[in-house]
Amino acid sequence: MRVFIIGLTIASAAFAGASFTKDVAPILYKNCVICHRPGEMAPMSLLDYKSARPWAKAIQTAVVSRKMPPWFADPRYGHFQNDARLKPEDIETIKAWVAEGAVEGDPKDLPTQPTFAEGWRLGKPDSVIDIGEDFKVPPGRDVYQNFVVQTNFKEGKWIRAAHVLPGNRKVVHHVHFSVLADEGSAAVLAVDSLSAGRSYFDVQDGLSRVRDDAPVVNDACAGDGGIANLSGFEEGSFATMLPGKGPDVYDVFGDGSIAKYIPAGAKVRFQIHYASLGEPQVDRTSVGLYFASKVPERPLKRVDVRNRFFLIPAGASNHEVKRCYEIEKDKLLLAITPHAHLRGKDATYELVHVDGRREILLSVPRYDFNWQIQYRLKDPILMEKGSRMLVTFHFDNSANNPANPDPAKAIRWGDRTEDEMMVTWTETLDAAPAQALSASTEKK
Ligand code: HEC
Repeated sequence: MRVFIIGLTIASAAFAGASFTKDVAPILYKNCVICHRPGEMAPMSLLDYKSARPWAKAIQTAVVSRKMPPWFADPRYGHFQNDARLKPEDIETIKAWVAEGAVEGDPKDLPTQPTFAEGWRLGKPDSVIDIGEDFKVPPGRDVYQNFVVQTNFKEGKWIRAAHVLPGNRKVVHHVHFSVLADEGSAAVLAVDSLSAGRSYFDVQDGLSRVRDDAPVVNDACAGDGGIANLSGFEEGSFATMLPGKGPDVYDVFGDGSIAKYIPAGAKVRFQIHYASLGEPQVDRTSVGLYFASKVPERPLKRVDVRNRFFLIPAGASNHEVKRCYEIEKDKLLLAITPHAHLRGKDATYELVHVDGRREILLSVPRYDFNWQIQYRLKDPILMEKGSRMLVTFHFDNSANNPANPDPAKAIRWGDRTEDEMMVTWTETLDAAPAQALSASTEKK
């Protein structure tokens, strides 16, 4: 028996000869080690043979099932700059490597290990703002904490990129960094954007939740359910740190034509979700800002498209929630980030053009809360004035959803993970570049 196995291994290795150093390492270096290296989010390093070998079978399973790299867009719709899917031939190479005994190969074949800038991935920032304190994260429960700090910018600044850097990776789950428009908005924090009427929301510890008795609007494309101003199209955060997402680069064409603005003297807010551990931790998260070298032609805008008034009945396995965004002027769509919590099941984005043509922009058939993926369109899509973006989410509040914290409960909108959200963070540009904006132009 032993003789047979050895014979087989030698024979097949001689036949195809996929080795770690020559064939597999280049695939892992290109697609995996951004997360799978020491000190990063993934559980094991795939940088060298010794650390990768015990995972050979798991690697095969993960790539064949396309669980890894994490990417959830249905390949039938849209083209994305940051499409993380492996090429079929890479999957075949990994399968061949495992089938042949996951051998190391000649160490001389190993490509140079990619190097990663620790900390600031875009180089040294022009300005760094931190949360202003060493925050003590209490053990044992998730914490959402807001930090408001002053920029002390004497003049408005155009920003070409921003990188939110967690101070303590072990506990920082995600961060929203926002520029507060004025003094007043700093005080209202979580409710500042709830222009649809404060009476519909309870706010506790800075976290909001739609009241049980608020009107219900599951299909906000069909009508407003009696809520005079459903709202839900606010300018979103300036920059974010989300699991699986890199720094925010606004100057996407690299020619200085696009930037975001921070007014003189602005205050900024860090909204941090700490997923705390058994023992106390300390965090000092910061944002690195990269100034634009010139006044841009157009500002990048983030518009958040939400429906806050859905109600997901207890036990419902496929509850539909819709929101439509009527495009008010010609715009280019650059990126889409769907966001729901643990009951989020799928998300679809359709553009209904003025001539009635329907185009699916993005379909995420299996949404996963653990991955907040930003889908960056390969080519910006023109959303002409009068067209309509139709957003449809489904939620699984049944006992069959392993992530569901409580299938016996009807669920509404709320900041807490055990509540739900139906929101999409979009990045858009005005379609026609204006004459270069003046340096003092206020953010719109
Ligand atoms: C964006 C970050 C990221 C990238 C890129 C990524 N991984 Fe992962 N991977 C993770 C994280 C985080 C986990 C642990 C959580 C999980 O299993 O979902 C993981 C888990 C795994 C596991 C364990 C799966 C299991 O079922 O236990 C394997 C195997 C794996 N990754 C292989 C790969 C391979 C191979 C690639 C590249 C082709 C890759 N990953 C790319 C972040 C990443």
